[in-house]
Amino acid sequence: MLEVHLDEHDIDQQLRADVRQGLTATPKWLPPKWFYDARGSELFEEITRLPEYYPTRAERAILAERAAGIARITEAKTLVELGSGSSEKTRLLLDAFVSRGTLGAFVPLDVSGTALSAAVDGLTSDYPGLSVRGVVGDMTRHLRHLPEGDNRVVAFLGGTIGNLIPSERAAFLTDLRAVLGAGEWLLLGTDLVKDPAIVVPAYDDAAGVTAEFNRNVLHVVNARLGADFDVDAFEHVALWDPQQEWIEMRLRARGAQNVRITDLDLAVEFADGEQLRTEISAKFRRPGLEDELARAGFALREWWTDPQGMFGVSLSQATT
Ligand code: AVJ
Repeated sequence: MLEVHLDEHDIDQQLRADVRQGLTATPKWLPPKWFYDARGSELFEEITRLPEYYPTRAERAILAERAAGIARITEAKTLVELGSGSSEKTRLLLDAFVSRGTLGAFVPLDVSGTALSAAVDGLTSDYPGLSVRGVVGDMTRHLRHLPEGDNRVVAFLGGTIGNLIPSERAAFLTDLRAVLGAGEWLLLGTDLVKDPAIVVPAYDDAAGVTAEFNRNVLHVVNARLGADFDVDAFEHVALWDPQQEWIEMRLRARGAQNVRITDLDLAVEFADGEQLRTEISAKFRRPGLEDELARAGFALREWWTDPQGMFGVSLSQATT
């Protein structure tokens, strides 16, 4: 079953607003959520298998080891997953919750209706006792559409919370806390601060898959808004910001570029070497994260990392 709170028209309106705002700003920027059309989602799946991209493997190892514990501690009746995508890692959790015997429902929420309906179909047939209810929505806007319930666990995995800037992150956590009752749970995956010699290659791989993924946002704008970006005239840049402790992806114009965005009736000029920011991916430390959670009304109950301390999974509980 699929419930839609976001249709193509809403998505189009949002894309238009974001592109107009970001490409008329100084410096220019675009939000990372627009990477993920069908091709972008495929490229991301490919990234998760790259030797340099450690977060997916590290998080999977943590969940494989801790899923049974998570089920025992939370005794969840409903598992909600934000930005679920293919729901692959979710199966580790579902298996553990199902064998614990408390879980009645799984609610994946994603902006991509196609990815979600495929996942919902697969899960519905693989977990016959479970109610699987997909919600097509934007997790920063449609949290209030999450189904009522008690003892829900909201999983937000992959480190995607790092794509939000700190003020957006605070707002998101506060909004999430507001739709939960005291005692309900947040299971959060966060990539951790480490040597830039490890982080940078994860976002600038030798095979050039991340570069393709980054440039894909220009293909999306071309296809959806009738723009004429010369995609190959933009170079991939991955930059570690030691103050903010985040990695930034940018696209750098090789030569001056004049871009026409027909559907916005907008002309955008890039100077030679001008950079367009396409993503931040913040890395976390436990104390800072614990503090951010506390300020939003969540108490950290468990903290797990992989043996090398690359990635963290936290289990927090909404406080009164
Ligand atoms: C899916 C948002 C977690 O920030 O690491 C991968 C996206 N960007 N390579 C991340 C991404 C460049 C990824 N998240």
